Amino acid sequence: MTGKVALVTGAGRGLGLAYAIALARAGADVVVNDLDEELAQSAAKAVSEAAGPAAGGRAVAQAAAVGGSEAADLLVERAVSEFGRLDILVTNAGILRDRVLWKMSDDDFDDVISTHLRGTFTCARAAARRMREQGEGGRLVLVGSPAGQRGNFGQTNYAAAKAGIAAMARTWSMELAKADITVNAVVPVAATAMTETIPAFAPYVEALRQGTPLPDALRKGEGFGTAEDCAALVAFLASDAARGVTGQCIGIGGDKLSLWSHPQEVNTAYADGGWRPETIAAAWRHSLAGATQTVGIPAPQPVEA
Ligand SMILES: NC(=O)c1ccc[n+]([C@@H]2O[C@H](COP(=O)([O-])OP(=O)(O)OC[C@H]3O[C@@H](n4cnc5c(N)ncnc54)[C@H](O)[C@@H]3O)[C@@H](O)[C@H]2O)c1
Repeated sequence: MTGKVALVTGAGRGLGLAYAIALARAGADVVVNDLDEELAQSAAKAVSEAAGPAAGGRAVAQAAAVGGSEAADLLVERAVSEFGRLDILVTNAGILRDRVLWKMSDDDFDDVISTHLRGTFTCARAAARRMREQGEGGRLVLVGSPAGQRGNFGQTNYAAAKAGIAAMARTWSMELAKADITVNAVVPVAATAMTETIPAFAPYVEALRQGTPLPDALRKGEGFGTAEDCAALVAFLASDAARGVTGQCIGIGGDKLSLWSHPQEVNTAYADGGWRPETIAAAWRHSLAGATQTVGIPAPQPVEA
């Protein structure tokens, strides 16, 4: 990726930092964004050091709270003023404000939608405009979540935002195909400050911090590992090898790599002239009830080697 320029949002720590390091190690120059100025500065330093002088790209920090258009424009302008262009955008910035529906405040809902959904939209729009001007293609790597694919207890705001991001990846892959810009959503699972807030994962995040490797059942069954495990997918999607890969939701975590299906009709029935509630009730029993879909993120399953 030497000569390519990447922008990673929310790269002050966790997955974003791992993505920035992987891209810089592959030779890209990277704008390291975080809403926290100090975190962004220290991360940019870590990215430069991890990349090393040989093949590694340079890194600069740009603090901004992703969400509105001004921040998005500022970030893309920084990539251009610092490195002359923009080739790769990773929209990773994110927060959680978990509450069950009846306890969720307007602010809980709006903050999560603003950071994830609006932030992905505004940053991708600014990047797409620049990439189309350059006329040399590009890569938009969006960030989804298992919660967006399946729903998750307590995550009205987050699941809605991440499902929307998957829908935007599919939409933009069509709109930007002519410009040779690929758009995919990664669906990561990793030990980070974010997953440490989830009780089932907290002990494993702590174990990793103490240097204890994760059990195989967790790395394979749950697809739960380190942020670095997930970075390989972002580096692949940003590379020339992924030229034809677009419009996909791709899972990564621990030892597991997966391709998510999109929602599709699993069963259909037809009624000449249309349906009435009574005929739907009968068709529900005969044709649809056997195919109702599960919800939520399944518990870890044992895995055979
Ligand atoms: N960790 C997981 O297992 C997991 C699973 C699915 C999806 N994700 C997604 O991956 C992304 C990164 O998650 P993580 O686990 O590394 O979280 P994290 O909390 O460790 O890191 C998120 C970073 O984003 C920054 N940030 C938050 N709001 C911002 C904003 N408005 N503008 C700029 N920066 C902002 C934070 O300061 C922080 O440095 C998020 O989008 C998250 O939803 C993570």
